[in-house]
Amino acid sequence: MGRPGGGPTSTVLHLLRPGVLSLAALPPLSLYVHLPWCLKKCPYCDFNSHEWRGGDAPPEARYLDALRADLESALPLVWGRRVHSIFIGGGTPSLFSPASIDRLLADIRARLPLEPGCEVTLEANPGTFERDRFRGFRAAGVTRLSVGVQSFDDAMLKAIGRVHDGAQARAAVEEARDAFDTFNLDLMYALPGQTLPMLQADLDIALSFDPPHLSIYQLTLEPNTYFASHPPSLPDDEQAADMLDVITRRTEAAGLQRYEVSAFAKPGHRCRHNLNYWQFGDYLGIGAGAHGKLSFPHRIVRQVRWREPAAYMAQALQGNAVSNEHEVSREQLPFEFMLNALRLKDGFELAMFGERTGLALTAIQRPLAEAEAKGLLQRDLHRAWPTERGFDFLNDLQALFLAPA
Ligand SMILES: C[S@@+](CC[C@H](N)C(=O)[O-])C[C@H]1O[C@@H](n2cnc3c(N)ncnc32)[C@H](O)[C@@H]1O
Ligand code: SF4
Repeated sequence: MGRPGGGPTSTVLHLLRPGVLSLAALPPLSLYVHLPWCLKKCPYCDFNSHEWRGGDAPPEARYLDALRADLESALPLVWGRRVHSIFIGGGTPSLFSPASIDRLLADIRARLPLEPGCEVTLEANPGTFERDRFRGFRAAGVTRLSVGVQSFDDAMLKAIGRVHDGAQARAAVEEARDAFDTFNLDLMYALPGQTLPMLQADLDIALSFDPPHLSIYQLTLEPNTYFASHPPSLPDDEQAADMLDVITRRTEAAGLQRYEVSAFAKPGHRCRHNLNYWQFGDYLGIGAGAHGKLSFPHRIVRQVRWREPAAYMAQALQGNAVSNEHEVSREQLPFEFMLNALRLKDGFELAMFGERTGLALTAIQRPLAEAEAKGLLQRDLHRAWPTERGFDFLNDLQALFLAPA
């Protein structure tokens, strides 16, 4: 589906017309805000992040104007709905000043009602802040900081092209812990030349800060990155599996539960924003290249914003931030739901499948039974969840829900 002509009002009427789905209620709504600049592009990164090469700092004020215009154009699509969580991601959002983040959150609050206790996460990189910067973010209304540590080992950080060193990573985590009630550390493992003892040392340092949440990702070589064309030598699959075993055991011993493939949290500290994605909730995505998923009574729509920051700003300021919009077909919905829900250790409530997709449970009866027979999934009267084997072979489990070709 292209974007029909006319302003946002004709679009919303178009989206509200009758269709093949029937959603009894709309899911929780989150807001994602993308800030696309970084000091330097990391060689493994395929996110929409752009090295800032001009002058001293990115054009914060113009970008904030564009975000405000983007949000205003999108308001008719989420009219009357409250926002359940906000995630300011990147790029490197901590390159923006606390005053800019304050203005951004004020712009959002003035236009969208936030649920009481709304979680507001901001991604921060070590080495992009001065002292007191994190406290400034906190004062602006950020409730949760996500620090992109990746590793505390100077040699590993150098091998993956990070701009910060281990000492800066530790300083950033200390500041996050002092300034926020809850925070997350992003770590990566199976790095070039990394051994099991090196990974253990990294993990020990991370756990010494008693983090309420950890996100730990295996380094993957993504297409169209520097590492894809200049691949470093990485630990093999067996070594990577041993590393994951150590990660799972040590985090559990430290009171962090693995509640999603890559996410570990203490009780009460799960990331509400990401949980909403995994539970197939709705999210409005504003900013360069941001993705969104929005439900209407008879359809589910995905949107993408213009990817290049300059093009995004020019288009958003004219009320045209969306570069692509399409309706998710009935046939794709079971797989899209499972791609998210089966990442969760606890799986999903069977009733939620119908609530979120507008489809009857009979639409997935056959693949559910097949997954159970293969020992990849378990279910009772209320829930379905991946078995340990299902968690290890998640792609195979999810693929059972693909629409027949
Ligand atoms: C949006 S990204 C970047 C956040 C922040 N700019 C930073 O670099 O610390 C979120 C996380 O995804 C992970 N990540 C990015 N590229 C990856 C890759 N190729 N393989 C595994 N994890 C990756 C990193 O842990 C990163 O912190
Ligand atoms: S700092 Fe983060 S977003 Fe920026 S290039 Fe590196 S990994 Fe990507």
